[in-house]
Amino acid sequence: MDRAAVLSGLGTWLPPRVVTNDDLASELDTSDEWIRSRTGIGRRHVAEPGMATSDLAVEAGRRALKSASLDTVDAVIVATTTPDRPCPGTAPLVAAQLGLDTVAAFDVGAVCTGFLYALATANGLIAAGTAHTVLVIGADVYSSILDPQDRSTRAIFGDGAGAVVLRAGAPHEAGALGPLVLGSDGTGSELIMVPSGGSRDPVRAATVQQADPYFRMAGKSVFRHAVERMAEAALDAVAQTGWEAGDIEVFIAHQANLRIMHAVADRMQLPRSRFPVHLDRVGNTAAASIPLAMADAVTSGALRPGQRTVAAAFGGGLTWGACTFRWPDVHPV
Ligand code: UT7
Repeated sequence: MDRAAVLSGLGTWLPPRVVTNDDLASELDTSDEWIRSRTGIGRRHVAEPGMATSDLAVEAGRRALKSASLDTVDAVIVATTTPDRPCPGTAPLVAAQLGLDTVAAFDVGAVCTGFLYALATANGLIAAGTAHTVLVIGADVYSSILDPQDRSTRAIFGDGAGAVVLRAGAPHEAGALGPLVLGSDGTGSELIMVPSGGSRDPVRAATVQQADPYFRMAGKSVFRHAVERMAEAALDAVAQTGWEAGDIEVFIAHQANLRIMHAVADRMQLPRSRFPVHLDRVGNTAAASIPLAMADAVTSGALRPGQRTVAAAFGGGLTWGACTFRWPDVHPV
């Protein structure tokens, strides 16, 4: 393939309100000590009531376009599990609010792996010549689906948005996406789910009392799958690129739990220091996690131009994915 999708812009946005572990401990049976030692998370950003996923996505998208020095793109893809509404998609609204006229715009739903699935989709649009430039946004407002009484999910998740611009380029350029490895296992679909509100269990006036509209996660089981699948996907992507595992200079991991990241590093026999950590300040931001972690790593100097990089994620579905690239000379806005 002589036409590649090349990373050429990066933008992020976090809602201003910060909720610390101590804030959570003031209303739930939890503690800063428990959350830090079991997850590595210290605080997270939470959207104000009335703030929807598109609001975050527009801000991150605008910044990614600025980072890429572009006014427009040929397509917008929004990866999210918390669309503004079940129907229509969030991406067309985001495109309109960014002033992108009538470009192609659609959502991708692969829970916490959504950003990598959206990257793969954009990669395909560019490879096929359907688009030359694509804005890929991962954005989620998990606070809108968390059970206020569920200490295990409220401790982990935070709200946020991150976006990249991909443009058509050559495979040897820094920033060119390498092989994208994607997978799923629907036999585990009940390990992460929102039980009600879809076609399986529609919310109707007569049954609304029995409905469960909240995000549910079997944490321990998900933890185990996440370690295995992220490590396998990363190794697969690395092998397809022609690298050895030890060649990976920076591993941008989905930021779900610091213990998961350490376990992936240990399993791949990589130093834990090659896994930049962002979740201590933002928690698990679902589809936004990978681009937010990339931007934080560039800002801190942990991710530098030319470095051999892997991004890998795991999420509900179950779904997982990984992708390789050499970091380009791109600066987050
Ligand atoms: O983003 C995509 C996928 N998501 C993930 O990758 C998340 C994967 N899972 C995890 O990160 C962890 O499983 C959690 C952080 C969610 C939970 O940690 P854990 O060490 O697996 O705890 P657990 O679920 O086995 O629960 C152990 C105990 C339970 O109490 P009992 O039943 O032993 O009395 C929980 O109720 O810890 C309790 N617990 C808490 N205690 C204090 C769970 N959450 C909390 C909390 N504060 N926030």
